[in-house]
Amino acid sequence: MEKFLWGAATAAHQIEGAYDEDGKVPSIWDELTEGKISNGENARVACDHYHRYKEDVALMKELGLNSYRFSLSWARIIINENGDVNPKGIDFYRNLCDELNANGIEPLCTLYHWDLPMWAYRAGGWKNPKIIEWFCRYVDVMTKALDGKAKYFITFNEPQYFIGVGCFAGLHAPFEKNDIATIKVMSRHVMLAHGEAVKIIRKNVKGAIVGMAPNHSCFAPETDTTEGVEEARSRSFNLDHLMFSTAWWSDPMVLGVVPDLLKDTITQEDVKTICQSLDFYGYNVYSAMNYSPFAPKKRNNPTFGAPRTQTGWLVSPQIMYYAPKFLYERYRLPILITENGMSNCDWVMRDGKVHDPQRVDYLHGYIKELMRAKNEVPVIGYQYWSLMDNFEWTNGYSSRFGLIFVDFATQKRTWKDSAYFYRDIIQSNGENL
Ligand code: BG6
Repeated sequence: MEKFLWGAATAAHQIEGAYDEDGKVPSIWDELTEGKISNGENARVACDHYHRYKEDVALMKELGLNSYRFSLSWARIIINENGDVNPKGIDFYRNLCDELNANGIEPLCTLYHWDLPMWAYRAGGWKNPKIIEWFCRYVDVMTKALDGKAKYFITFNEPQYFIGVGCFAGLHAPFEKNDIATIKVMSRHVMLAHGEAVKIIRKNVKGAIVGMAPNHSCFAPETDTTEGVEEARSRSFNLDHLMFSTAWWSDPMVLGVVPDLLKDTITQEDVKTICQSLDFYGYNVYSAMNYSPFAPKKRNNPTFGAPRTQTGWLVSPQIMYYAPKFLYERYRLPILITENGMSNCDWVMRDGKVHDPQRVDYLHGYIKELMRAKNEVPVIGYQYWSLMDNFEWTNGYSSRFGLIFVDFATQKRTWKDSAYFYRDIIQSNGENL
C-alpha cells in the first residue's frame, strides 16, 4: 500500500439518479421516503451521474484525485429474491471502473451504502437471516464482475446509521423504531453478512484490499492532560451509545470479542464468520462525539457560539488526530479516512464563483490533524465527503457537502474554492499545511 489515497467519496443513491432506468428496481430510499425529505425532494435524478460519469471522472482527474470512493447499488444489480441479475447494472459499474483506471484513479468500492432493495425489505430486510444469503449472492456477482478492475472493497457504510438511525431512531429509511432486542438481531445479521462478504471478496478478487466504513462515536480529550486523553479513549470504546458505540461492531468484527451486551445474541460460533482479517480500518469522521446532543453524559462543554457547519455539526479537527490513534491502538489496522467533510451555505456568487472559506479552513484544520496522526500511526488515505453536492438523505438538496457545486436544475458543475485548495493539498501530499 504505497501511495497515500487522496480522494473523495460519494454513494450510489445520492448521485446516480436513473432511479428506474435500465432494469434498476426500487430501493427503500426510492419508495419509503414520500413526505420525509426536506422540501419534498427526491433522488430520482440527483446528480445524474449515471449518465454523466465520464464528465465526473474528468473532474476527479483535474482535481488530482488518485482514488475515488463510491458505492454500488444492490437494487441496480439483483432484481429479486431469486437472485436474478440485471446485466446493464453490472455494465455501469464495470464501465465506471474502466474510466477511473484509464485516468489513474483507484476505485474504492463500497458494497452497501444504505439503499436496500425493496424486494429484500418486503421479505423482512435486516430482520430476516436470509438477507445474509441474498447479500452474498450480490457480492459474489459484483466481485466476479469487478475482478481486475478494482481491488479495494468496503463491505458496509455505517451500520450505526442504517441500523441505528434507520431502524431504531426511525429518522432514515425504512423509518422504523424497533426495540433493542430486534436491533441486536439485525446487527448480528449485518455482521455475519460482512464476514461472509469478506470471504467472497478474497476468493473472487485477486489482490483484494478489504475493510469497512463505520462512523461510531469517538471522543476527543477535554483537557490537555494524561487523564483527559485516557478518559477520551475509554469513552470512545464503552457501550454507552449502544449501536452507535465503536465496540458494538468493531470488537466482534476486528477483535473477535463480543461485548457483554451482545452475548445473548451473538455466539462464539458466529464470531468465526464475523471476525475476518481486514486490511484497513475505514472510518467516517465529522465531529468529536463530546459535543453531540446525543452524547449520554453531558459535560459542561463550552460550545456557546463554537464553529458549526450548516447542519449544526461542531467543527472539531482534533478528533482527526485522536480517533486514528485510538482506533489504531485498539484494532491494529492501518486507518483509511473513508469520509470527512462539511455542509456549507454555498451558492454561485456574482463573480460566477463559489467562495467557501469555511470549508477551506475546515479542510486545513482536519487534514493537518490527520497528518499529525500519520506521523504516529499508519494512515493510508483520506476521502473527502463529498466529491460534489448531492442528495443528502432526508436533508434533500438543502445540505451541500461537495467540493464541486451542482446546480440541480441544469446539472452544471462549478468548482468551489475548496476544490482548488484540496487540489493543492494533494499536489503537496499534505505538506503545504
Ligand atoms: C455520512 C454518510 O454519515 O454522512 C453520507 O455516509 C452522508 O452518506 C454524510 O451523506 C452526510 O450526512 P447527512 O446526514 O448530513 O446527509
